[in-house]
Amino acid sequence: MSGDMANFTRLPREIGQERAFGLLETAMEQARKAVEGEGGQIVDTAGDGFLAIFGAPLAFEDASLRACRAALTFRDRIAAGRDGFVAEFGAAAEFRVGLSGGTAMFVRYDDGGAKVLGDPVNLAARLQASAGLGEVLIGEDIHRECEGFVTVEDRGAADFKGFDWPVAHYALTGIRAETERFSGARRRGLTRLASRSDEIAAVRRALDRTGRRVVAITGVAGVGKSRLVHEALQVMPRRDQVVYGQCVAEGRAYGPIFDILRHAAKADRGLSHFETLRRLSEVFPFVLDMAEVSALFSGDPSGEDSRNRALRTRDFLGGVLARLSATGAHVMVVEDIHWIDPGSSAVLEALLPLRPTLIVTRRPAPPIAWLDSPHIARIELGLLDAAAIGEIVRDSYGAKLAEDTAALIVDKSEGLPLVAEEMVRALRARDSAATGDADLLTGTLEQSVLSRCDRLEPAARRVLSIAAAIGRDFSVDLLTRAAGSAPDIEAMMSADLIEQVQGDHWRFHHALIRDAVYSGMLSGARREAHRAIAIALEAQAGEGGADRGRIGRHFAEADNHVKAARYLALGAADALAQYDLINAESLAARAMGYVARDPTVLDEAGYRALVITWLHSLHHLAEFRRIVDLSRQLLPRLQAAGASTELSIVQTLVALSMTHTREYAGGETLAQETLEQSERVGDRLGAAWARVALLRNFEETGKRSVAELESLADAILPVAEAEGDRALSMIALYQLCAVYRTAGRRGQSVATANRLMAFAVEHDDRRGHAFASWAKALIHIIDDAPERALATVREGRRHALGGSGDEATCRAIELYSRTMIAASHALAEEIAGFTAEVRRRGDYNLIHAMCWIAAVLHLRKGALADGWRRLNRDLPEVALAGNQPMERQFRLLKAEVLLAVAGLVEPRASEDGQAKEPRRRGPRDLLTFLRLRPWALRDATIELKRCLELEPEAAGANYARARIGLGLVALRRRDKATARAHLEAGRDAAMADGVDLLVRRARAALKQL
Ligand SMILES: Nc1ncnc2c1ncn2[C@@H]1O[C@H](COP(=O)(O)OP(=O)(O)OP(=O)(O)O)[C@@H](O)[C@H]1O
Ligand SMILES: [Mg+2]
Repeated sequence: MSGDMANFTRLPREIGQERAFGLLETAMEQARKAVEGEGGQIVDTAGDGFLAIFGAPLAFEDASLRACRAALTFRDRIAAGRDGFVAEFGAAAEFRVGLSGGTAMFVRYDDGGAKVLGDPVNLAARLQASAGLGEVLIGEDIHRECEGFVTVEDRGAADFKGFDWPVAHYALTGIRAETERFSGARRRGLTRLASRSDEIAAVRRALDRTGRRVVAITGVAGVGKSRLVHEALQVMPRRDQVVYGQCVAEGRAYGPIFDILRHAAKADRGLSHFETLRRLSEVFPFVLDMAEVSALFSGDPSGEDSRNRALRTRDFLGGVLARLSATGAHVMVVEDIHWIDPGSSAVLEALLPLRPTLIVTRRPAPPIAWLDSPHIARIELGLLDAAAIGEIVRDSYGAKLAEDTAALIVDKSEGLPLVAEEMVRALRARDSAATGDADLLTGTLEQSVLSRCDRLEPAARRVLSIAAAIGRDFSVDLLTRAAGSAPDIEAMMSADLIEQVQGDHWRFHHALIRDAVYSGMLSGARREAHRAIAIALEAQAGEGGADRGRIGRHFAEADNHVKAARYLALGAADALAQYDLINAESLAARAMGYVARDPTVLDEAGYRALVITWLHSLHHLAEFRRIVDLSRQLLPRLQAAGASTELSIVQTLVALSMTHTREYAGGETLAQETLEQSERVGDRLGAAWARVALLRNFEETGKRSVAELESLADAILPVAEAEGDRALSMIALYQLCAVYRTAGRRGQSVATANRLMAFAVEHDDRRGHAFASWAKALIHIIDDAPERALATVREGRRHALGGSGDEATCRAIELYSRTMIAASHALAEEIAGFTAEVRRRGDYNLIHAMCWIAAVLHLRKGALADGWRRLNRDLPEVALAGNQPMERQFRLLKAEVLLAVAGLVEPRASEDGQAKEPRRRGPRDLLTFLRLRPWALRDATIELKRCLELEPEAAGANYARARIGLGLVALRRRDKATARAHLEAGRDAAMADGVDLLVRRARAALKQL
């Protein structure tokens, strides 16, 4: 290390000799402290500079890193002391520093002094001389040795005096916290990088400060995604601390987000979430408010308020991450988002528009919708070619490798660097064991990993297997408890399969390596390992904060059915309480699997709780078809236990689901039975819930008048209020609002939506907010104000959790509003994707709505043939399904198209304003137009009359639309009396409902009479 005080020569003149030397001495003292603090030694202080060495006479393995740390410490202390220096000496000290590594000659004199000579010394001096003020420049050798541990700015190569070649050098900007995946790997030597320079450049470009964007790297397992991130971040501009979030297969809510916050706070892995946030608030006081944190973590998480709490948590974490990202101090990396939990996914999605510096990695499936965002730069990482794999093989083997062996590895690894590395490791292990194993290279990745395990002592092998049963990451503490004694980590390390993450935490080098160790275990050993882990976790659970689902999973693998069922069910309930729906559902499903095989594994109370948890989770996820299917198996045992409010609520959920799957008759029967059974035992709340199912059923089938539906709602609302059941109040109000809307009573619908919103505000009920927002958005749509509808529904979406049915409803309304604003090809694709999603769940309200929206979209794009074909294809299914408001929507649209073809109404313009005339589009559209035209009046009349039949209330916008349509047809046929009757009735209904567009249409037609 060569350091030099830059401004020294002129200082004596400026501040006087005495003060100048005082300053120099003080600064040199800082240099000495920094150097010695890292075990180095100052060997020369020539005038205003110094020369220090590290790793001699005593060799250090990490001499280069120590030198880097010393240089930065020195630089920072000089900078921090600036004001003090000025006050004391009248000037500040300015230093330049250069670092270089390699072999040098070290001469020690008898008087204790020493001298070093050689290229590294010269280069350090040259680097120092060309450094800027307060800058530390390092040479290539230091950089190579410290890669992964330091952050640098690449300065390219330059010519230096005394060197015949251009010298690569870097500005040292920081020391990394050892938090990332490859920091452990570095210590054992990373395989030299092969190929990928284009991809690295692409990542760096995308992260460039000016055009800062999110980068998504996609590739199959083991292809090198994590490595690419690591390489790309080696040379980054000043500022960046890299913070990592890791998604795992059996993810917990917000796992990767807390990882990131923990790294940013430089907190330990073992800390609780609360403590992590507290630490973060100390480091970044402005990114979070501890009062809010305390509020979030206080109270009973299983209380009625779980959805609100879950939303608060999501919004809170989203806000913290947004503010943290705005500091610009971090590059965030989220690894393996193919496993991301919905909560974290929503937080990241909300972050995108803020242009965070974010890199995500993922395997190709499953698709993640927000990755299509225009804010994202996508990088597809392909397999490596044979040349690159060959490089990896030769490089990592070290010694000379027979050509045919190398070729065999290249061939077997099929472009996956991970497999190539593993085979080389296996080969090396064989060499050192001196056992010839001819089959080694013909085996799989798994066999090569196992061959290394086999070299371990049986005890170490057993512990390693238990670690694999714990998962890719494991703590020594849990491993000790499960294994029954402290593990011999050194022995395990010798197989080169695991690495230390931080402190007590270790992990397998790679997920696939863990998988290989795990799948190599015999089933008996595997069961035994899981049993030991489950028991260790169960004992720990007494100490609080237990993940009961995790305990259940281990008991499941241990074949302890009773405990598995119990803990899985409890874990499901815990997850539901945190609104971690996907986890709740999958844990409940697994628990029920055990019950199905042996009903005695759960007692009646346990069974009831499990059914309720499961169906509630499925209902939140809008998995209606599964609810209906499952109810046939699940309900009988519950019903046998007699009536209860819980049973009534569960039956109501099933009956509601049946309206979604279009089993109206069955749903009505079930709701009626539930009502009778609740009334028999005097269960008011149960009865009120049953009425909700009836209300919804009748609203969709049109089997009851509005007055009857109003009286149903009147029977629900006071009970809900008296019992304090907010969910019930809210659903009943929403349903009533829908009744008014479909009956065309706009005013009452608006009033009810407002009442719902007031209720939501009063009780801070987030779901109520969402429902009220949709209700209002749907009214804006009727009013032909799609922009307002879009804004309103987006507001509503803030109150829905990712992956929930509520979110799906928001999306549907959003898609519809966007269709009305600008019909584009991209939107059509989005609609198709979403339709496939809702079809899978059997949610016919959304399926049919999406079919309708797709037809509207095509028509608005001017694609008459496609739009018309879709309408006619889907209408029969819709009509058969029995949802009357939906059928009417289809028929009204058909009629509207026919009226447009007949030239009676203006077709709605699409975004480019070109589609005023449907027949202007392609030849198929023209053909359709010509085919429809002769019968347009007749066919429109048929559809409109059918619409009127579906309109018992004879009021509202839809009724007005139908009457006006019939009026226009009559006008064309010069049947003035009929025309007047229809048009006046339509105009009055439109005025009563406040739909201006229709009022204008009716008035214009009436003028022609
Ligand atoms: N271009 C490369 N040159 C040399 N080694 C590489 C290269 N790419 C990856 N490797 C090595 O291959 C191994 C697997 O790479 P990595 O862990 O990055 O895979 P991944 O795509 O992140 O896999 P996963 O999906 O399982 O997380 C690592 O040990 C890594 O160092
Ligand atoms: Mg990876």
